[in-house]
Amino acid sequence: MEPGREVKGLHVITWGCQMNVYDSARMTDVLRPLGYQSVETPDAADMVILNTCHIRDRAAEKVFSELGRLRLVKDARAAEGQRTILAVAGCVAQAEGAEILARAPYVDIVLGPQTYHRLPEMVARAARAAGAVIDTDFPAEQKFDFLPDAQAPQTPGGLTAFLTIQEGCDKFCSFCVVPYTRGAESSRPVDSVLREARRLVDSGAREITLLGQNVNAYHGEGPDGRVWGLPHLAEALAAIPGLARIRYTTSHPRDMEEALIAAHRDLPALMPFLHLPVQSGSDRILAAMNRGHTAAEYRDIVLRLRDARPDIALSSDFIVGHPGESDADFDATMQLIRDVGFAQAFSFKYSPRPGTPAAGAPMQVPEDVKDARLQALQALLRTQQDAFNAATVGRVVPVLFTGHGRKPGQLSGRSPYLQPVHVDGPDALIGQIAQVEIRERYTNSLSGTLIQERAFA
Ligand code: SAH
Ligand code: SF4
Ligand code: F3S
Repeated sequence: MEPGREVKGLHVITWGCQMNVYDSARMTDVLRPLGYQSVETPDAADMVILNTCHIRDRAAEKVFSELGRLRLVKDARAAEGQRTILAVAGCVAQAEGAEILARAPYVDIVLGPQTYHRLPEMVARAARAAGAVIDTDFPAEQKFDFLPDAQAPQTPGGLTAFLTIQEGCDKFCSFCVVPYTRGAESSRPVDSVLREARRLVDSGAREITLLGQNVNAYHGEGPDGRVWGLPHLAEALAAIPGLARIRYTTSHPRDMEEALIAAHRDLPALMPFLHLPVQSGSDRILAAMNRGHTAAEYRDIVLRLRDARPDIALSSDFIVGHPGESDADFDATMQLIRDVGFAQAFSFKYSPRPGTPAAGAPMQVPEDVKDARLQALQALLRTQQDAFNAATVGRVVPVLFTGHGRKPGQLSGRSPYLQPVHVDGPDALIGQIAQVEIRERYTNSLSGTLIQERAFA
């Protein structure tokens, strides 16, 4: 903080994907020099930021209902002579900025995901002006060139961190708002990524998850003047001393190149757990979705990944009830799930998003059909997840310990597959990776025993 500044409270509410979690941390970083420090509740805050998500259902309604609640807090503080700056950020702000200001005139700032490096200027304007400030540009400059370096990992305990390396999307899947809310695809330069990664590791991170809407389409400018892809970047990151685990999300099957598959074979730090959304197992629906690949191509990628890294496990996203999806199409999705076998997955009913091609398409699927399909799909995925967790029992897995468990003397950590694992062990293991023999599994976690006390870094 600059000397002489008074301390002000900042409360950030974050919805949506991991990139929003990262963005919220970066907005906090950018406001710190103005004197803003995080506070737990909005009633202690001189500024509240609601960082929103527009991906599915009733996103805007959820925002307006939260804003209604925040207005009460703002009014109560005003009655005591305190000003609260209320900002709406993120993907709903980008898509519906004007609507937000019309329906919630007590909002002071509306900003999109690509302009938060300008927040200090917006705050200054909001503090001065009577009217609201709106900035939902897609500026020519990259925000990362103007942001201070990330201060520390975003997670409690600080052992695992997110790092955005790529943002935006040019793929225009029929159902998706992201190309409209995050803008065109762009990659951060390699130097900027490596500098931030080193800084995160210096402040304690042992694991970094690289983020991007199409993270495996990464093509950043390298220090050698060439364009680096994700495999090259991952190799440079893996060489950072102290960085034990690297993950990346979300990948698109179309960008799953051979070199990246090979990186899973060659880089032990690259965790053998890949989120690779397929959305549907029907070629007709994949084409209607504009995904740019077939179900057979997806199966082939999985085979090549398993060939390169036999212990790799997959996670995915599925949409049921995309316009035009027949029973046969849905069956093809179920068949793909049976054939591939997923360790974990997210699944959603198709939700029409304003302005996207699928929203206006004929042959919308009735809600009750979507419900039934989602139930069947989730039941199958749950069986697979259970089987995957059950198969871990009796095995020895490396666990990165990130904190204490609920019981005294208990530590908690994560397996390479992000399964929560509990063991009895010494505090000194927090921040270390140790081998654990898994003894039991519960609904959402595993427990085991340390097979070696000696941690290896
Ligand atoms: N870039 C990623 C997905 C980002 S959105 C990819 O291409 O795979 C995260 C997930 O939300 C998507 O994978 C999809 O399963 C789901 N999703 C996106 N739009 C949706 C919509 N309109 N209705 C239902 N689910 C949707
Ligand atoms: Fe959305 Fe498709 Fe882009 Fe993923 S690839 S962000 S689903 S448009
Ligand atoms: Fe939501 Fe925007 Fe992320 S729509 S999922 S916050 S990219």
